[in-house]
Amino acid sequence: MSPRLGSEGTEAPLRVGLLGLGTVGRAVAEALLDAGWCDGVRRRGGRALQLVAVGARDPGRSRGLGMPASVEASSDLDAVVARPDLDVVVELLGGLDPAERLLRSALERGRGVVTANKALLAARGASLERLARWTGAPLRFEAAVGGGIPILTPLVRDLAATQIRSVSGIVNGTTNHILTAMTRDGVAYPDAVVDAQRLGFAEADPSADVEGLDAAAKSAILARLAFGVWLDPEAIPRGSSAGEDAAPGITGVTPQAILAAGDRGFVIKLVGRAEQSADGTVSAWVAPVAVARSSPMGSTDGVTNIIEIEADRVGRLWFRGPGAGGPATSSAVLADLLALARGEGATWGALPEAPPAAVSAKGWSGPWLDLKVDPGRSRFPLLAGPPA
Ligand code: HSE
Repeated sequence: MSPRLGSEGTEAPLRVGLLGLGTVGRAVAEALLDAGWCDGVRRRGGRALQLVAVGARDPGRSRGLGMPASVEASSDLDAVVARPDLDVVVELLGGLDPAERLLRSALERGRGVVTANKALLAARGASLERLARWTGAPLRFEAAVGGGIPILTPLVRDLAATQIRSVSGIVNGTTNHILTAMTRDGVAYPDAVVDAQRLGFAEADPSADVEGLDAAAKSAILARLAFGVWLDPEAIPRGSSAGEDAAPGITGVTPQAILAAGDRGFVIKLVGRAEQSADGTVSAWVAPVAVARSSPMGSTDGVTNIIEIEADRVGRLWFRGPGAGGPATSSAVLADLLALARGEGATWGALPEAPPAAVSAKGWSGPWLDLKVDPGRSRFPLLAGPPA
């Protein structure tokens, strides 16, 4: 029987099984196989971390990692999760299938789980939370939003004394890179997408990013921790600047609109927002918005992410940093592993269980930036006021 997670007084290492050797998975494996890194974090407290198995659909992916023979490398992901000696499964496969089956299997066995899988958490969050609470297995997912930016744990722990009103963010690096290129270099949307693909930021099929699905998933996860409900990401409205019938996200943003907004001191950003009204209802949306160039959001360019919190007592807070990439995202994954090694529980901490909830239809109630540009008209929620 494996020792209890973080049980005090035991010196047994936390035995880790890692699923997925993509950019983030490799960065996590490299750290766990680096004796110097392991010694360094060990000195800061908690049990030692020990990588015991790595599962990747393509076993060739472990090449170059210098894995010792004591670490099992397998393409049978179910067999890795079924190992009786694991304490924690780190799921970095992404997507729903087979990640959901493997993650449930780990939770059912009482293993801790660390994941960066925003699509899975957003789509199945309520039932995964229920299962984790039922089996007592801690589920941690700091890396699912904002890559290397600590945002979920601060929402739960450090802002516990505040009443959070809204959480808004540039939470998708790909679209921010595309919009930044369109703004700085005046390139058209299709050319900026091809360039982002060439640089490895955008996927071959970029629709989840450019149509706002990825930002909707991250907004649902932020809403769970800020407002205590699981919203259905597919029910989160995804707006367009080019009218209600246009494709959502940034696909309808034109260089002409960006230029006209720029003339007035604004830049266009894709933002996901969740807010809670005084009556407790939670609304959320994703849309291209106008923000003052000089604002924290307006000056967040490239693949950088930023999350703005509005809360009583503290007013506005901004969390900005690298929202993607192997090293940055591995920082959040590894910190979750260390939290388990220190006996901390799930990302939701002591919050009560969050039920699924309908997304309130309330949209943006603030001012709009209305631009008459050729072709047609572009309209953006004006999120951060005019330049001073
Ligand atoms: N496709 C995502 C982005 C990756 O561009 O932000 C990180 O979640």
